[in-house]
Amino acid sequence: MYLAISIFDFIVSLVLFPVWLLAALTVRRLATRPDTRRLRRGARIAVVLTVLGLLLAAGRLLTFSQMAGINWALVGDRRVITTLLLLLPGVLATLVLSLPKVWSAARRSGPEEPIALVAPRITVPPQLAAFDALGGFFEKFLPPDRSAALNYPVYGLILIAGACWLVFRARRRADRLTGRTTAPQRTRGRRVAVRLGTTIVILGVLGTLVTLEAQRSRFPDTFSMMKGTMDYGGGTTFAADHEGHGGHEAHGGHDGASATTTNALGTTGHSTGNTAGTAAAKALGVDTLKGPRAGTPDRRFTLTAQEATIKLASGRTVDAWTFNGQIPGPELRMKQGELVEITLVNKLKDTPVSTHWHGLDVPNGEDGVAGVTQDAVPPGGTYTYRFQVKERGTFWYHSHQSSSEQVQRGLFGPMIIDPAQQTRPVDQDVTVQAHTWDTSQGSTLALGTSDTLDHRTARPGQKMRLRLVNSDILTRTFSLTGVPYTITAIDGMDINEPDELTGRRLVIAGAGRLDIEFTMPNTPVRLASEDAKAAGIAFSADGKGTLEPRFDGPEFDKASYGKPTAQPFDARSTFDRTFDLTLDEWLGFYNGGFALRQTINGKVFPDAPMLMVKEGETIRVRFLNRGQEDHPMHLHGHHVLVLSHNGKPLTGSPIWQDTVLVRPGEAWEVAFKADNPGIWMDHCHNFTHAQLGMVMHVAYENVTTPYTVGGKNGNRPD
Ligand code: C2O
Ligand code: CU
Repeated sequence: MYLAISIFDFIVSLVLFPVWLLAALTVRRLATRPDTRRLRRGARIAVVLTVLGLLLAAGRLLTFSQMAGINWALVGDRRVITTLLLLLPGVLATLVLSLPKVWSAARRSGPEEPIALVAPRITVPPQLAAFDALGGFFEKFLPPDRSAALNYPVYGLILIAGACWLVFRARRRADRLTGRTTAPQRTRGRRVAVRLGTTIVILGVLGTLVTLEAQRSRFPDTFSMMKGTMDYGGGTTFAADHEGHGGHEAHGGHDGASATTTNALGTTGHSTGNTAGTAAAKALGVDTLKGPRAGTPDRRFTLTAQEATIKLASGRTVDAWTFNGQIPGPELRMKQGELVEITLVNKLKDTPVSTHWHGLDVPNGEDGVAGVTQDAVPPGGTYTYRFQVKERGTFWYHSHQSSSEQVQRGLFGPMIIDPAQQTRPVDQDVTVQAHTWDTSQGSTLALGTSDTLDHRTARPGQKMRLRLVNSDILTRTFSLTGVPYTITAIDGMDINEPDELTGRRLVIAGAGRLDIEFTMPNTPVRLASEDAKAAGIAFSADGKGTLEPRFDGPEFDKASYGKPTAQPFDARSTFDRTFDLTLDEWLGFYNGGFALRQTINGKVFPDAPMLMVKEGETIRVRFLNRGQEDHPMHLHGHHVLVLSHNGKPLTGSPIWQDTVLVRPGEAWEVAFKADNPGIWMDHCHNFTHAQLGMVMHVAYENVTTPYTVGGKNGNRPD
């Protein structure tokens, strides 16, 4: 709903300016019409244009009120400025002062003399509305930042200055036309010269500003994650805790206002020595935060990054970057609690790689993020990861070096962790990794390597488990047709007492997972994705049957699924820190180029502040998506408990996730316990968005990293 409203609003904001500009020009010309007949005609056109402008403005007010109804924070700054503050004065003045006069001039009984319409209070209001509508053009350039609200007086001044200037010009013109002034007219040649001069100066200033901004946005050749601004969050404990902490501004409490400060401490990290009541935590480098170095691993795997040309079921070929020559990479299967050792071997030419264990809360030094927890592994190099597996369920691994390119090209695979003791054995355990491949014949969505319908045999009565993994950057919608099923896990985490469902639209965030269980009936069962209805899997007794997939059911709602059980915290708990993160888009320069940047509180990587936490604290994060795209927000090293959706606490099973989908207009509140020291990436898993800035980190105050982005290894986590 929000998406449609917001797109409509954007289109209206774009046509608003031209319509008001035309209206303003037509009204202005009325006073110089040569005769009454042409005055009437011009006035009629002006009435039509003005009414159209008024209708459009009313449309913007309507979308404004609808968005405000969904969530005030969606309109709180930018749209208040561009819609109410800037647009309303001109529009109201037109309605009250200008339109009645123009209206009467359009009628036969109206004034006969065109000069009767020269008064500034007739000509200026539509000009002011046009001037204000121009603000709508710039909405996408305005910083979508809570602090933008502070600029209200600035916008107010711009508006008043603009109005004064327009009135001044209109007065001079009126005086001139009515012969009340004897001031000598500038000669034509001088007028042209003055205009040309002003235009050149304005263009020169704009050009310089643009060039400087483009330069300024360029990343340095190498930089540390730790050298940016820090956000210490709002929260009750925080207020008491950080008193006397040098360099901090006062900050809000539970309203979520966050204090940010620039880290002056560089690589020494943020000392907590003077924090009341807490002993100084000792400084930890990420290299000391490793899995067990000693001990024989229970499992050993080798992942070799190498090129391969792979044929999909349809016959299309993919020039892939693979692990072990296959796409998706090999399924790493292990048991909960085991010590695993995974060796990454890089046989790609010219391309450094890394491996990240998506959703596993491994020690920070094993997290596999190039430039944060390690250097990317150069061609010919190897790197060994060792960690004990705490989780069980459906996970996946992928490269975290130039992720937008490397994951898309195939450097990923499933990671399935069985419980130490099997509690719900199944007859068929099927991993389905959905991914869109760039092939010889265009891009295609495949489940595994099948981009056509995959026929499989399942005997009636067999217990089936499907593990859906979405390794795409985009949200995917699936359906399972022909059988009732339960969703037993989301992002690898078990659902408490899941209910039986049929025919739901199963929305999975980019990087998200869903486990589905069902008992095979006598008739066929069909798994399909909305984005590739002809592909998918058909299960049947003889391996030949199929049926049409359906997508007309209601959407699966995790907020009310299953039964509640006690958790360490919930929507009513008090948290040590709260971070409010508004996700949005903002046109501007990014790393030298002009782009639709994907912003967090108006900031982009690496300027988006680090979210600073301390071990042992409970942290709440409140996401709001004010933009027009889905953002699957992924925090490394921790699972977050979903507290509420659009202000409503969850009513079903606890939902623990590693990737929380925040769709346009949505507000999601999540919380986690800071129990895994490190510097953890927290980013949108749409890697295209990550590349356009939607990347930040959660950092423990005492942890430091020696690794840098860029540099000779060319580390690029996104
Ligand atoms: Cu699955 Cu930072 O990633
Ligand atoms: Cu995103």
